[in-house]
Amino acid sequence: MYKTHTCGELRIEDVGKIVKLAGWVHRRRDHGGVTFIDLRDRFGITQVVFDSETAPEAHQAADALRMEWVIQIEGVVRRRPIGSENPSLPTGEIEIAANNLKILNPAKTPPFLINKNEEADENTRLKYRYLDLRRDKMRRNLELRHRVVKFIRDYLSERGFWEIETPILFKTTPEGARDYLVPSRLHPGEFYALPQSPQQLKQLLMVAGVERYFQIARCFRDEDQRGDRQPEFTQLDLEMSFVEREDIMQLTEDLFTKLVAAVVPEKRLFASPFPRLSYHEAMERFGKDNPDLRYGLELVNVSDVVANCGFAVFEQAIRSGGSVRGINVKGCGDYSRKQIDELTEYVKQFGAKGLAYIAFPRGGEVRSTFVKFLSPELQKSLFERMRVEEGDLLVFVADKDEIVFESLGRLRVYLAEKLNLIDENVLAFCWVIDFPFMVWNEEENRWDPSHHLFTAPMPEDIPLLDIDPSKARGQQYDLVLNNYEIGGGSIRIHDRTLQEKVFKLIGLDLDVARERFGHMLEAFEYGTPPHGGIAPGIDRICMILAGEPNIREVIAFPKNQAARDVMADAPSPVEAKQLEELHIQVVLPSTLQKS
Ligand code: AMO
Ligand code: AMP
Repeated sequence: MYKTHTCGELRIEDVGKIVKLAGWVHRRRDHGGVTFIDLRDRFGITQVVFDSETAPEAHQAADALRMEWVIQIEGVVRRRPIGSENPSLPTGEIEIAANNLKILNPAKTPPFLINKNEEADENTRLKYRYLDLRRDKMRRNLELRHRVVKFIRDYLSERGFWEIETPILFKTTPEGARDYLVPSRLHPGEFYALPQSPQQLKQLLMVAGVERYFQIARCFRDEDQRGDRQPEFTQLDLEMSFVEREDIMQLTEDLFTKLVAAVVPEKRLFASPFPRLSYHEAMERFGKDNPDLRYGLELVNVSDVVANCGFAVFEQAIRSGGSVRGINVKGCGDYSRKQIDELTEYVKQFGAKGLAYIAFPRGGEVRSTFVKFLSPELQKSLFERMRVEEGDLLVFVADKDEIVFESLGRLRVYLAEKLNLIDENVLAFCWVIDFPFMVWNEEENRWDPSHHLFTAPMPEDIPLLDIDPSKARGQQYDLVLNNYEIGGGSIRIHDRTLQEKVFKLIGLDLDVARERFGHMLEAFEYGTPPHGGIAPGIDRICMILAGEPNIREVIAFPKNQAARDVMADAPSPVEAKQLEELHIQVVLPSTLQKS
């Protein structure tokens, strides 16, 4: 037996016991005749003392110890001398007087400190991820993730859900990204696709009569990387039969309410029940469909007020079908020209052509680029609409709605961070519902499903699919937490005719649809229950609960921002023989060809 106790376990009641501990040298302090080692394992840290008088051999051996060496010690638990207790350690009242030391494995000096949460270059951390994960913060993140997943498994199991694994080698399951393909050796020229989600399979499990399914499911999407995206990530994928939208929403809401109470009791819910916003309301008030409700700075539409105000920028935007919207940045009326320019540069990244402003400095004169164009009555209406008080700063963007929403929606988040308006201890969940069923794809000149192919339209909106698809709403729901979409789901189509109608609407040739999704269409003809589900992203949820800025911090072995595994160095070239067996020839783009 290597250890009788963990390094986090011993207390004052254990004084006098002879124990064996094993772990890593976390810290070493040499005090002449006495050497102190903080011994660390996953469970905690215990102070070990090597005394040259009482245990000369062990003391001598401890001389060689360096950070991160793996050792085993044997000794007696004793009370620390009065005044030398460490209240920040659970084991801080005791120490082990070691009489035996065994070096199990020495260690090279690590490329960054394990015993301090010092910033280290991310690629170095990822290259030595096994060392990075030894650090306290990362260990806590791994534990948090384990507790989240365990809670979910218990919660759903208690409510009659079965966890069922579905294949990774499958066929295209579109969720709006590119597929990762796997060539087949046995079937030359043919490929499996890794699932972007288990969407089709969970629906087929409903046809199979499972009724309540879930899976902690790995999903694969080849898409542009962002802080909240990984090429492979994990969803809590769930599906139920004989349900309506309300049933799924209530179950999900109850799950997350209880999960927060159990896993992060120190955090507060912003509102319970979770607020519900229509897609339209979310866009109008926050400029985005994943709104952060923790602060104000809401968007205000002033198009009607300024439609004929005399300021050409505004008038033109409205005349060409756009809008003028603003944000009242409370208390920032004293912003300098330079500070406002900085905000202007910020919104320009998102397509805005400028940022018109009116500043109301406390006790000073109103400053503005355009207010002089407005009549006193118009000014009054505008100020009323924006609920102006002394000390405020009004900023406006005039453009196509799309650009106005994107730039002001982002500016709102940017300002909240800058002005410190965000309470990190608050979890603001909300639902966004009533999404448009289809969105127009300008590039491809066709309709795209706004959720995915299998989402059902609102029953009362089905006739609109023939008349004006832009007006139809989908039976889908997004779960939003703080500034992130953390889950999406819908009630599904369970009828072959309606499913084929949707394929047609999005310009998917029926022959192609049958080739890709024939198994779904066929299944729908064998008694399919009405069904629906949702898939919250585990990585994003853990990221938010852990207060981390990106999902890589809550994934044991993530890819970097260029989608590489820098530890194993993947992706990497393969042997010519392997390619031959797969009947694959690599044709590199000219930029990568060796001259
Ligand atoms: P959707 O595509 O909305 O729905 O995805 C659901 C949730 O998965 C998470 N997510 C991601 N997390 C990390 N990296 C990514 N690249 C990534 N992409 C998505 C998000 C998102 O909200 N099959 C449907 C669900 C359903 O209809 O039941 C689906 O996958 O948290
Ligand atoms: P200009 O007439 O281009 O010099 O712009 C006058 C002011 O209006 C400047 O403060 C610009 O930042 C701002 N502005 C220009 N275009 C827009 C726009 N589309 N929306 C909001 N403000 C704008």
